[in-house]
Amino acid sequence: MDSLFAVKNKIIFVTGGSRGIGYMIASCYVKAGARVYITSRDQKRCAAVERELSAIGFCRAISGDLSKLSEIERIISELQVLEPKLDVLVNNAGATWGASLEEFPEKGWDKVTSLNLKTPFFLIQKFLPMLKVGATPDDPSRIINIGSVDGIRVPIWDNYSYAASKAGLHHLSKTLVRPLAEQNININTIAPGPFSTDMMAPMKEGGWSDTVTSAVPLNRFGEAGDIVGTAIFLASPASSYITGATIPVDGGMSGST
Ligand SMILES: NC(=O)c1ccc[n+]([C@@H]2O[C@H](COP(=O)([O-])OP(=O)(O)OC[C@H]3O[C@@H](n4cnc5c(N)ncnc54)[C@H](OP(=O)(O)O)[C@@H]3O)[C@@H](O)[C@H]2O)c1
Repeated sequence: MDSLFAVKNKIIFVTGGSRGIGYMIASCYVKAGARVYITSRDQKRCAAVERELSAIGFCRAISGDLSKLSEIERIISELQVLEPKLDVLVNNAGATWGASLEEFPEKGWDKVTSLNLKTPFFLIQKFLPMLKVGATPDDPSRIINIGSVDGIRVPIWDNYSYAASKAGLHHLSKTLVRPLAEQNININTIAPGPFSTDMMAPMKEGGWSDTVTSAVPLNRFGEAGDIVGTAIFLASPASSYITGATIPVDGGMSGST
């Protein structure tokens, strides 16, 4: 059983690993003995998380802005100096935008669709050579995309570009299943429901917490313990025969509508 869910010594790259869901996932991989690399724009925060998690296991931060292709290429070239391959890519970094239909700005489309949809595609494309190195039919490399319940069901608020970008990411994952399977790489998506992170802060501060949880059959926000099990599963031998799946971790939100 220990080897079935083992990620020890796997080389894992988590985008947006400096806080929120990305931090939850990165820290659980570190605790499980993986060699974990995180990235985000905030260099200071990245360095602080690197220091904190290095006290537990292996964690290095390479900061940068993933909305720029040139930055994606720079980050990958820095990783290539440090590691010969990549076993698991977690496309977690994301952004949202809320505005009414009448007021929704073009910026709210460009920022959100770029980071949530275009960036994961180019990270996959540019990381492909490193993902292929250690990939075998028995031990495929993994891509884990972090989608959203809002990409499965109609959201409860006005986040048009966000919901569309996440539905797009879910579908992009499926369109990549065959070309990646030929290279022994599995691609799956986790679709979280509401988690108490900075992204959800405006909802909490605006007094919307009850509205959010009342849409969740299990009637609460998700917590670290709710997401890390799925992240471990999708990186481990236990999921070697799973690709193209979208797994909701949403307290029943998508399963009940
Ligand atoms: N929280 C929820 O309820 C929820 C629900 C469903 C899905 N999700 C999804 O889960 C993922 C994580 O969300 P979260 O709630 O943890 O968000 P969060 O707390 O806002 O964290 C976002 C992370 O992404 C990084 N990031 C943002 N823009 C970036 C950029 N241009 N380049 C590099 N890194 C960037 C941030 O760091 P910097 O600011 O330093 O760059 C941060 O580490 C997202 O894809 C989100 O859509 C969240």
